Amino acid sequence: MIGATVQVHLRNLDTNKGVITMRMVDLIVKTRRKEALSDDEIHAIVSGFTKGEIPDYQMSAWMMAVCLEGMTKREISELTLAMMNSGEIVKLDDLAGVKVDKHSTGGVGDSTTLIAAPLVAACGGTVAKMSGRGLGHTGGTLDKLESVPGVSVELTMERFKQIVADIGLCVMGQTKNLVPADKLMYALRDVTGTVEGIPLIASSIMSKKLASGAEAIVLDVKAGSGAFMHNAEDAERLARTMVDIGNHMGRRTMALITDMNQPLGLAVGNGLEIIEAMEALSGKLDENDHLLNVSLMLAAKMLIASGLAKTAEEARKMLMEKLASGEGLNRLKKMLYAMGGKEEYIENPDKLAAVKRLVDVYPDDSGYIGDMRAESIGVAAQLLGAGRAKKGDIIDPATGLVMHVRRGDRVTKHDPIATMYVNDDSHLEDAVAMLKSAVAITAQKPNDIPMVYKEVD
Ligand code: URA
Repeated sequence: MIGATVQVHLRNLDTNKGVITMRMVDLIVKTRRKEALSDDEIHAIVSGFTKGEIPDYQMSAWMMAVCLEGMTKREISELTLAMMNSGEIVKLDDLAGVKVDKHSTGGVGDSTTLIAAPLVAACGGTVAKMSGRGLGHTGGTLDKLESVPGVSVELTMERFKQIVADIGLCVMGQTKNLVPADKLMYALRDVTGTVEGIPLIASSIMSKKLASGAEAIVLDVKAGSGAFMHNAEDAERLARTMVDIGNHMGRRTMALITDMNQPLGLAVGNGLEIIEAMEALSGKLDENDHLLNVSLMLAAKMLIASGLAKTAEEARKMLMEKLASGEGLNRLKKMLYAMGGKEEYIENPDKLAAVKRLVDVYPDDSGYIGDMRAESIGVAAQLLGAGRAKKGDIIDPATGLVMHVRRGDRVTKHDPIATMYVNDDSHLEDAVAMLKSAVAITAQKPNDIPMVYKEVD
């Protein structure tokens, strides 16, 4: 095997303009030696791989070198730009207002989009958002929306824009040709141990946000056992990298670093998370509830990034008014109707979690709820049918689980720690075992951990 060569187009007018041919192996070695690639070399790698000219084995080797040795800030920005330009760039200029998007790096029980986006729209914001599907232990907003019978997330661009113009928000699936380089790279990262690695995660996320037309971007970077970044320091490095890329590209970008050592909401499952989001928007949750509080903080940043509020206090006040008036819930329902959702379910959301049976899960000991492994709780829900083990698996939207405890709560052996929503028993035992192993019961009350570690602007 001789590997590929790439045509490196020299675009800098100060140097010799033209094309040179380079061996991909030399670019891999450069990154492995921590020598920075030129902008043109990075573009050549991305376009060569997207066109199928660079074989998977060389791209994998290069991405492994990136994971191990990192990239400079300039290289990461250029990688993002090259990926963004690999496909269609969505133009939202004909929509009024600052188009604001919100992105979470992936968590368990995270329905913040379904709470924050309608509240921002109710305050006059313009939320035109393209979202993804869930994979593994993390949920995806598209799957949650599709748990409402009738809802279609595959909209034409015209319909998407019409809904945003009418309601102030719409969340749809990514268009087919959005950042094809990322689709190919992500599939390879998934099977070559290169999903982690800040330059690759940051460029993957930001290329899609930039290509989907967002003018302001708020990032929710998760830290903890259920997240890519297991600690707040790594999450901050990822957040800083993404915020810098966004601002460098002229999009107002901000991030929150939030905890993912336990599920954010209590519900983990698609229909169950729609129900919980609607409860939050009905004002049924306490303002200090983790899910509602993080959603309000993200929504406040979205208002600030859109120029609709100057301070977090002003933004929070606006959001609380829309929460109390029910206008946030109204916007979510309007969006679901506009996307085809059936009234019977939108008005009676409990029907979204109609399953054959409910199974309570009890702890083996009495004590305090200590460390939780959010990832394993997500996997337990996935085993019940709420998530995909691999791309293309079919989801059962009514299944999943509802936690009854949070870190620091006191329980006895007779208090259920969770209720499972079950249609198919085949993996129930494994799901129960997985959930119990994910929740430590301790004799001492554990220390408190924050919901939000840091803000990065
Ligand atoms: N989400 C993405 O879109 N890409 C990553 O690399 C990680 C999370």
